[in-house]
Amino acid sequence: MARPAQDEFEATTENAALVELLRRRIEAEGAITFHDFMETVLYHPQQGYYATRQPMGREGDYLTSPEVHPIFGALVAKQLLQLWELMGRPQPFDLVEQGAGTGLLARDILRWASKREPEFCQAIRYRIVEISPALRRRQEETLSTADGEVEWLEELPEAIQGCLLSNELIDSFPVHRIVHRDRRLLEIYVSYRDGRFEELLGLTSTERIAEYFADLGLWPGEGCVAEVNLRAIDWMAEVVRLRRGFVLTFDYGYPAEELYAPWRRDGTLLCFYRHNPSHDPYARIGKQDMTAHVDFTTLMRVGRAHGLEVAGFTTQARFLANLGIGAGVDAVARDSPGALEEYYARRRAVQELIDPAGLGRIRVLAQRKGVLPADLWGFAEDEHT
Ligand SMILES: C[S@@+](CC[C@H](N)C(=O)[O-])C[C@H]1O[C@@H](n2cnc3c(N)ncnc32)[C@H](O)[C@@H]1O
Repeated sequence: MARPAQDEFEATTENAALVELLRRRIEAEGAITFHDFMETVLYHPQQGYYATRQPMGREGDYLTSPEVHPIFGALVAKQLLQLWELMGRPQPFDLVEQGAGTGLLARDILRWASKREPEFCQAIRYRIVEISPALRRRQEETLSTADGEVEWLEELPEAIQGCLLSNELIDSFPVHRIVHRDRRLLEIYVSYRDGRFEELLGLTSTERIAEYFADLGLWPGEGCVAEVNLRAIDWMAEVVRLRRGFVLTFDYGYPAEELYAPWRRDGTLLCFYRHNPSHDPYARIGKQDMTAHVDFTTLMRVGRAHGLEVAGFTTQARFLANLGIGAGVDAVARDSPGALEEYYARRRAVQELIDPAGLGRIRVLAQRKGVLPADLWGFAEDEHT
């Protein structure tokens, strides 16, 4: 009975221990970069958002594709099957998922493979790299009855031969926030005064920010706020551990020219609390997610510098359509015409997964190394390949 009041209280409060921890750090060091603020708020091992909350899913703060319906994992598995075949059916086929959330994508990939392609399933060596101890426990629960063995690693393994897979990993990395003002790039810092966090502008904290825009050959528009995800560059440089195979990345984002278009005045930083978006990173500290869109131009450029060629780039809506998401729904109706409820649930899920204003606008990037170019099923008729 007391639930609505509790919910309201919950929605307006912050994680006091986390705020105290940040306050003390700022007191000791002075203002910190927004990057350091976001990193602590999301990933502090005891008090951070990912350690203390249930982030994704209908009961959580935001919905990711694997949480919508198993059909997503089934279609990703179908694409992975082709990648395995293009590589000459290696045994084992390393499938390394970084940032696996509640483990549903792993469960659904293995389920599809074991039912439809047992030989492929036998070849898969599924490994997860997960930063959040709480989510790792969730994954272990989800995958305790999976159709294949899953192993957890502390970091990306050396010499991967197969595919490195991630869904909404890079958009959850902490970002630097900068402002283009009077032909200068300034950085946003976070300070604490009179019981609240406040933003200050200062010189950029690292030369890498200027280098980043120099490499792109552009700056955000005058007066614009923009995010710079240097972690994404470091991540791409680590991905070079892929000895042979593919990197398959699903994330919200754009090519750089679109991401830093002059009309995008406030950048792309968004917070989510129980499926409500907000632009205030200082509200509900530690209880809301924070995310910023990914610059795919830089991912492609850094990948190329490390021997990874672009093998496909498209939207999730097109990727899933190319892999036959519509046919999947009809098959359910045909196979079990009595199961109308399941049929309608799938139809709703399909609409959600390909919604051009929602999950459907997620970008899918495939990169290859040591494998000959080929038309990938999910990227058919894609002008970017
Ligand atoms: C937005 S969630 C997406 C989860 C899942 N892929 C999904 O689609 O539901 C981001 C995930 O990446 C994890 N993560 C963030 N940074 C990471 C890192 N550096 N290494 C491994 N996992 C990371 C988070 O803990 C979380 O599991």
